[in-house]
Amino acid sequence: MPKTIGILTAGGDSPGLNPAIRAIGKTAARAHDMQVVGFLDGFRGVMENRTVRLDGDMLSGILTRGGTILGTSRDKPHRMEVGGQVLDMTGAMIDNCRQLGIDALVCLGGGGTQKNAFRLSKAGMQIVTLPKTIDNDVARTERTFGFDTALSIATEAIDRLHSTAHSHHRIMVVEIMGHNTGWLALGAGIAGGADVVLIPEIPHDIGKVAESLLARKSSGSRFSIVAVSEGSLSAEGAATRAELRKKRAAAESPKEKSERTQALRAFEASRSDSTARLSRELQDLTGLESRVTILGHVQRGGTPSPVDRLLATRLGAEAVQAVADDDFGIMIASQRGEAVRVPLEEVAGKRRSVPLDHPWIQTARQLGMNLGD
Ligand code: F6P
Repeated sequence: MPKTIGILTAGGDSPGLNPAIRAIGKTAARAHDMQVVGFLDGFRGVMENRTVRLDGDMLSGILTRGGTILGTSRDKPHRMEVGGQVLDMTGAMIDNCRQLGIDALVCLGGGGTQKNAFRLSKAGMQIVTLPKTIDNDVARTERTFGFDTALSIATEAIDRLHSTAHSHHRIMVVEIMGHNTGWLALGAGIAGGADVVLIPEIPHDIGKVAESLLARKSSGSRFSIVAVSEGSLSAEGAATRAELRKKRAAAESPKEKSERTQALRAFEASRSDSTARLSRELQDLTGLESRVTILGHVQRGGTPSPVDRLLATRLGAEAVQAVADDDFGIMIASQRGEAVRVPLEEVAGKRRSVPLDHPWIQTARQLGMNLGD
């Protein structure tokens, strides 16, 4: 019997998802005579049995399209809102897949999706995952698809901010996506020639940032570009967050855990205008006029770059090969240019942050960029 593969895309969308879906569909049909069914809107579609047959017509013309033709959501199988209640739907989802004759589920997503897929795998589903996110922070893979496209968009934004910063002799603070990791801000900061780059991995001291901007002014540069990851924190902020996380991890009852989760959420919410505040503080400390640009979801939109298309296509084709080999509970990673199978347990619940001795950090320092420390 030819196998049937189910595919879903979950978490924030990312350029490269459609090329990956296309690669899975075409490889399954052409190299293995398998069928492919798409679930709509992430794990919710599996729970609600909402499917679409991914045949030639559906796959045609999607290589260059951003987003995901399947739709996405951040729903979790083990904590899904159903009829006003939050329920564990893992068993129901596995039953649905059985009834649909799905032999393997390929889940395309970032860190959260890897965790959810691992849970399903432990519950008995035959799972293969692919790493996608513009944040580039999935463990055990050197690249996630979506990152390259977002890097180009963020770099172009910095390029464009240069000319207006120069004309008005201003500080331009640009907020770049990356709630927990700074790959995108650091990469775009270096590629775009930012003067300051602030990332979550390096808690910053605003006094030192201001000093570096004043030093630029003294040396005759009358404008500066400050690239900030949305998750970057001051040293005090980082200490508060670490403490709140520690307390939540040490909670002894579900009630305590929920209270401490609320406290952590309140802290994150209080940071919602942190880039605007940073800009105001820099303006006050330096006496230089400052403006803020928040790139937001523009970074995730539009056509995937050739690099992302190539990566997503290679990983997608290898995912089908893994299904053909009956190799499950794995993610297809990119390591040294190869599509490599890694156990999901080495990926789930882990995050790939920028190592403090990463060559990009060294390069930034060699160039005299200020990293806030
Ligand atoms: O994980 C990808 C990402 O784009 C992050 O960089 C960002 O913090 C987050 O998603 C935004 O999520 P949403 O689209 O749900 O607001």
